[in-house]
Amino acid sequence: MANKVDDLVPEEIFHWMVEIRRAIHQYPETAFQEHRTAALITKELQALGLEIQTGIAQTGVIAYLNNSNAGPTIAFRADMDALPITEETGLPFASQKPGFMHACGHDGHIAILLGAVALLKKELLPANLVFIFQPGEEGGGGAKYMVEAGILDGVDAIFACHLDPHFWLGEVSLRPGPVTAFTERFTIEIKGRGGHAARPHEAVDAIVVASSMVLALQTVVSRQIDPTMPAVVSIGRIEGGTTFNAIADTAVLKGTIRTTDPRVRKEIRAAMNRIAQRTASMHKAKAELVFEGGYPAVINSPKETMLANRAIRNILGDQARVKRPYISLGGEDFAYYLQKVPGCFIRIGTREKGTPFIPNHSPRFDFGEDALKVGAALFVEIAHIYCKT
Ligand code: NI
Repeated sequence: MANKVDDLVPEEIFHWMVEIRRAIHQYPETAFQEHRTAALITKELQALGLEIQTGIAQTGVIAYLNNSNAGPTIAFRADMDALPITEETGLPFASQKPGFMHACGHDGHIAILLGAVALLKKELLPANLVFIFQPGEEGGGGAKYMVEAGILDGVDAIFACHLDPHFWLGEVSLRPGPVTAFTERFTIEIKGRGGHAARPHEAVDAIVVASSMVLALQTVVSRQIDPTMPAVVSIGRIEGGTTFNAIADTAVLKGTIRTTDPRVRKEIRAAMNRIAQRTASMHKAKAELVFEGGYPAVINSPKETMLANRAIRNILGDQARVKRPYISLGGEDFAYYLQKVPGCFIRIGTREKGTPFIPNHSPRFDFGEDALKVGAALFVEIAHIYCKT
């Protein structure tokens, strides 16, 4: 990577970041369980000589570089949690914990933020810098608890990045306005009546009702929602029954709804209710739906997005910036910070030339580690520019 990234991130810092990333990758911890991860972060921050606060929102860690009484206060955030996924990468530093994996690159986010700390520690920028290591992004809403703990008091702007294999290494994507969706979980419990598998007429088969419901629910987005509005209804889990010769008494469907518009969200809920209730009664079963509100949309503020854009141009050149022409329907709890202070969420390309596309949350997810350099350099350059404006 021959550009300003290499000037900003010396080789020895890069190697240290890679080591940290790999150490964390081997011991993935899920939401609010990130004790070992937090301890490693704390140790590195102490070695760098920063003022630290630990145990925020259970396992959150914050570091401060207070250089100025008058200057701006800029925050940077990394998420720390892993996922309950069994790793299949075969990497030499693959997960040592069966069933758990850093499949979303949060191990990289930690290394990026520590890299930025190390680099910014060497400079005496006329600013106060806050480095946020946050637990529980994957559904835990850790950001919400961090915000409630008051960590944004006095913060003028906040920035975060996410490693993203949709883009090539050396590419960065950002835009002002909404960049992620409103997320919502749902659970549908189907109550049938158990019985002997040889005498189905004496029972109400919850598995057959669930199967029929899964298919019927596919028509919510395809037939009932304005096709020009982004919307997703996905069922991610189905469970029911206990053994091969008994008819299932109950079945449970779990899934998620993604929208960017409150009206569409309401229509989806209503349609799902209709379909679930009618499908159940058609088969003499009962259905109960529970919706659980999730993350709000991440909405990048125009000024901070422009500033981040300038930083990208400075370190990677004009051609690096990819305008994402669509909104991702992923969820991201960085939204909670942006409800309080302006800021920008930036996607950093990780895909290496000649490698296949493997999405986040795949058991084979990995990223080009040069992306760590890009992330750290970007944070440093954002701080530089912020101090000049
Ligand atoms: Ni993620």
